[in-house]
Amino acid sequence: MTSADRPARPVLSDGIVTLRPLIRDDIDGIAGACQDPQITRWTAVPSPYGRADAEEFVARQEPDEAWWAAPTWAITIVPEDRWCGSLTLRLDGADGADVGYLLAPGARGSGHAERALRLACAWGFSSLRLQVITWHAYVGNEASLRSARRVGFQIPPHVFEAYGVQRGRRRDSWVGTLTPEDLSAATRVGEARRDYLGPDLTRRERDVLHHLALGQANRTIASELGISENTVKNHVRSILEKLQASSRSEAVVSALRLGLVSLPS
Ligand SMILES: CC(C)(COP(=O)(O)OP(=O)(O)OC[C@H]1O[C@@H](n2cnc3c(N)ncnc32)[C@H](O)[C@@H]1OP(=O)(O)O)[C@@H](O)C(=O)NCCC(=O)NCCS
Repeated sequence: MTSADRPARPVLSDGIVTLRPLIRDDIDGIAGACQDPQITRWTAVPSPYGRADAEEFVARQEPDEAWWAAPTWAITIVPEDRWCGSLTLRLDGADGADVGYLLAPGARGSGHAERALRLACAWGFSSLRLQVITWHAYVGNEASLRSARRVGFQIPPHVFEAYGVQRGRRRDSWVGTLTPEDLSAATRVGEARRDYLGPDLTRRERDVLHHLALGQANRTIASELGISENTVKNHVRSILEKLQASSRSEAVVSALRLGLVSLPS
């Protein structure tokens, strides 16, 4: 593809998570999040991580050529546009790509990585005509493993010794692959599961739902759960979407009907 043929960098959204190109305003968020020990432990970002590393990461995406060789997005949580994580598809020059991602600590626990992965992989298959996307994580990274499995990555229990490289050291890894068929099959299984078992709420969403059923306001829920009011709002929006409810009370009624919550006696 020549630069003249290239479409604009895509913005992808499922209504809960939006992937958009990185901007310079993301630098502070990235530099702050990359102080997190889990990010140091499970990714290959530099350690220690400074503001200059974040500046370099964002600047690297600026030339069109570079972006299309490794499409990279900021993960944001609707309706805010704030950087909450990053995801990259590193193209292999044939018809494959390797995916890498991370979320800021405050954005975890709600399945956002799974949503971001699904959006980026679906786009890679449909727009770039990729045939396979590979995933790997250092052995022990259960959160990443579960997110990737839910999207449909086929990940054998086998440990690939010394497969990964982290800051110059080899790391034993789990490795998986995703084809367009794997992605469609996992999406169908997710939908069928929802039809049989009701919506697939995350642990945090179930906690928030319980407090909604008690009639509590966002501020009270936030203080009881030790999270921000904005995070509560995001959880409520996701709960309404999953329960196909137009209000909090409608969501509680659906949840009671589905046995997801019970009223206090
Ligand atoms: C990996 C990462 C992006 C996942 O973020 P997330 O979308 O918030 O994921 P969640 O916290 O919702 O966890 C996903 C699943 O793993 C489970 N999980 C999380 N931590 C776990 C642990 N230590 N042991 C077992 N299961 C765990 C969650 O319960 C959830 O399960 P569910 O889907 O059945 O509800 C995030 O943890 C992160 O940024 N980690 C540091 C960077 C990193 O590891 N990047 C990936 C490199 S391959």
